[in-house]
Amino acid sequence: MTRKAFTVSDSEWSYHDGEMMKVGDIRLSPATHALNYGTGVFEGIRAYWNENKGTLQVLKMREHYERFEKSCNVLNIELGLSVEELCDITLDILKRNAPREDTYVRPLAYKSATSIGVKLEHPATLSIFTAPMGDYVELTGLRCAVSSWRRTPDNSIPARAKLTGSYLNTALAVDAAHKAGYDEAIFLTQEGFVSEASAANIFLLRKGKLLTPPPTADILEGITRDAVMEMAKEELGLETEERDIGRTELYASDEVFLTGTGFQIAPVVEIDDRKIGAGTVGEVAENLQELYFRAARGEWDKYDSWTHPIEVAERMAG
Ligand SMILES: Cc1ncc(COP(=O)(O)O)c(C=O)c1O
Repeated sequence: MTRKAFTVSDSEWSYHDGEMMKVGDIRLSPATHALNYGTGVFEGIRAYWNENKGTLQVLKMREHYERFEKSCNVLNIELGLSVEELCDITLDILKRNAPREDTYVRPLAYKSATSIGVKLEHPATLSIFTAPMGDYVELTGLRCAVSSWRRTPDNSIPARAKLTGSYLNTALAVDAAHKAGYDEAIFLTQEGFVSEASAANIFLLRKGKLLTPPPTADILEGITRDAVMEMAKEELGLETEERDIGRTELYASDEVFLTGTGFQIAPVVEIDDRKIGAGTVGEVAENLQELYFRAARGEWDKYDSWTHPIEVAERMAG
């Protein structure tokens, strides 16, 4: 299996309920509402280590917190912090931990009441923690299967918001795919159109054009998805059409690739035991991978606005 797990260390600095503290000092009750009912909202942000500059490049931080706010709105969570304040807290955590490696930032806002009963009128707590994160999946060609689990529809549990409870749908599909010997699952919507992968958006190359499912296909509107559309147009002259995609269009594609903060740009070489294109990593995916990493790692002036650099100094004791 190609899915990797990245451990969160107890000794790392984190933010919890208004204070900076070590992850190991955070105490949560087993009665925490979100733990029982999935009433949380989260984000995943990457900070790439740039060895040449000695900096961490925090990728699309603002965009992630803007989406976080929208997700919070779905669960009626009032953070009481602006996007700027959330960015500042994140930078502070990263400076304290001072990692010299690719790092993942996980903001999590959750209903923290310790009472029994399902409802949304509860106060929320915000925690932000980090973990080292290299490649979450292999970038050299994934074998995928269309899942028998369908994506949760917008009117059931909206995929547009990054809600902790929705990821049970993801876990069921990933687990089934792994047990059947595949690397990754591809979801269809209830109507049978292609939606997205477990935690990544999907792109197809057909007839010289990029295709991706529209925001109404029960997808998370990925920040990497936007970045890839921008880069494909700007650097490769490739427009992306957002439209409903039938299952067998996957098989008829010249290339398929997945995009996400964790997945980065992950080419797909096989779906449902059928080769995609030549069954090897496609040229467009390979080009986009290279361009994306240059921009994300802060090695391309033209895309400076994508990342926020942090000079990494000494790790803060405490
Ligand atoms: C369900 C789902 N779709 C798509 C994505 C990709 O989104 P992004 O590019 O913003 O990381 C993710 C990852 O966060 C996800 O969990």
